Amino acid sequence: MILLKNIKETQKHAESIAKKIKAPAIILLSGPLGSGKTQWVSFFIKKYLNQKNLIVNSPSYSLVNEYKNKSKTVIHMDLYRLSKQDDFESIGLRDYLNDKKNIICIEWSENLNQSISQRQCLKLKFEIIDENKRQLSSSFEGGSR
Ligand SMILES: Nc1ncnc2c1ncn2[C@@H]1O[C@H](COP(=O)(O)OP(=O)(O)O)[C@@H](O)[C@H]1O
Ligand SMILES: [Mg+2]
Repeated sequence: MILLKNIKETQKHAESIAKKIKAPAIILLSGPLGSGKTQWVSFFIKKYLNQKNLIVNSPSYSLVNEYKNKSKTVIHMDLYRLSKQDDFESIGLRDYLNDKKNIICIEWSENLNQSISQRQCLKLKFEIIDENKRQLSSSFEGGSR
């Protein structure tokens, strides 16, 4: 468990993961609205793709946004509005999982009705402590890959 005392610490955490991670990888982010999931992903993508000025918006309407540079790709999904009938195929997740170049970040993955845990995932659970503080629990789960 880590206490992120302010947004700068959230940035440092996301950037440290971005420096270490290798594709393919899956990052599942959970926690209430406003807990910092999109902020974390934004810092992560900018570092991983080495594009400081990139604008990363929440894909809560589009469900998915794709970011790339010459050699790397990040898929950013937000499943807040996912409906019960949607499965891996209908949201394109199966294809994203099959592409070994991808780092896949998923907000509200708890809305998936299918388990993703045949693949190892980095799970990040955010909690709001106060206006600027967030608690972050991270773990690796699943995986036979
Ligand atoms: N330590 C922190 N880490 C992340 N976000 C923070 C922190 N402190 C304050 N915030 C604010 O909380 C909000 C988080 O929003 P967002 O990342 O969109 O949340 P979510 O995607 O979980 O709904 C932002 O307005 C951000 O500025
Ligand atoms: Mg969000």
